[in-house]
Amino acid sequence: MKTILITGGAGFIGSHVVRLFVNKYPDYKIVNLDKLTYAGNLANLKDVEKKPNYEFIKGDIVDSEFILKCFEEKKFDGVIHLAAESHVDRSISNPIEFVNTNVIGTVNLLNAARYLWKDPVDKRFYHISTDEVYGSLGEEGIFTEDTRYDPHSPYSASKASSDHFVRAYQDTYNLPIVISNCSNNYGSYQFPEKLIPLFIHNIKNRKPLPVYGKGENVRDWLWVDDHAAAIDVIFHRGKSGETYNIGGFNEWKNIDLIRLICRVMDSRLGRPAGESEKLITYVKDRAGHDLRYAIDASKIKNELGWKPSLQFEEGIEKTIDWYLENEEWLNNVTSGDYKKYYEEQYIKR
Ligand code: NAD
Ligand code: DAU
Repeated sequence: MKTILITGGAGFIGSHVVRLFVNKYPDYKIVNLDKLTYAGNLANLKDVEKKPNYEFIKGDIVDSEFILKCFEEKKFDGVIHLAAESHVDRSISNPIEFVNTNVIGTVNLLNAARYLWKDPVDKRFYHISTDEVYGSLGEEGIFTEDTRYDPHSPYSASKASSDHFVRAYQDTYNLPIVISNCSNNYGSYQFPEKLIPLFIHNIKNRKPLPVYGKGENVRDWLWVDDHAAAIDVIFHRGKSGETYNIGGFNEWKNIDLIRLICRVMDSRLGRPAGESEKLITYVKDRAGHDLRYAIDASKIKNELGWKPSLQFEEGIEKTIDWYLENEEWLNNVTSGDYKKYYEEQYIKR
């Protein structure tokens, strides 16, 4: 039986990865290590928490001694590292938290793997990263695995730094690593500070929809379960030392995406057409706001046979339905201990 450490498994993408691995690989022991920050919630994993091949450990990757002890005790065969501070706006107001978790936390995990994996054959350290490390595109162009790093936000700078450390540990200590850089994910269990769940929540509650700048920034959107499937493929079949870009081949200007969400929400809530769009409020732009991200995901497609499965319009409808049907989850993560964070996020504007 292999024991796989998944960090950040109580977060948005992590919870989908944990669910996939626990259900698909009954012969693996899946250990989910998560600090349960405002973004991590065990309610995201209710359906797998009693499975015999699943274990949860509450802990902080910044605590190097604790991480080393975990590696000694659990004897991990592989690591899928997702734990991170992930929200760009928060990185602008509190960069140091991003350095601690995203850089120091990653180096602590690398060190533990380096010390404990004396014979790294059949071991794998898989680091989950973002397309934001490549910086911003103009109207033309696309990020490939060879695009030069050019991060602009404290978040993307911290992720770029962690990517460099991961590669340095391969070059210096022969650690068997693999990295993927993915575009914007959407789907269930995403904390409602990110664009899509925030706007669904606000439309439902007839609150303003704060569009940064003119809403002309472009993002490439990928269904979160398609990202989890790509992570499965790369973890098992990706070449050691390689980087894979993951994307949805699905670029949207923010304002067009927001109008689509408004239309679907009007129809789902039985409101007159055009009602939700009246909530659109143009606000001050995000500092250093990257204009456009676009991912060339042809390497993973050609070499590993992965491609996105879900059409975006269908995915958006499924996502909206999920948030409308899971009000209790939404109330849970935006109340109590979480409320403070949610309000900070909202009031800041
Ligand atoms: P998230 O914010 O939803 O979840 C992060 C998880 O990490 C939470 O469960 C949190 O409790 C945990 N965590 C934070 N600090 C920790 C610490 N010090 N120790 C242990 N656990 C800690 O993030 P997400 O959107 O699911 O992103 C997961 C990973 O994927 C991140 O590394 C992110 O950079 C990357 N990524 C995200 C996207 C996206 O669109 N969301 C796209 C590409 C890459
Ligand atoms: O590209 C991958 C990245 O996607 C991940 O690495 C990050 O972890 C993830 O948070 C996401 O970053 P973005 O900054 O692109 O996502 P966010 O949902 O915050 O914003 C999407 C776009 O919408 C962006 O152009 C900013 C804009 N926006 C966002 C919010 C929250 C608004 O106009 N208004 C808002 O209130």
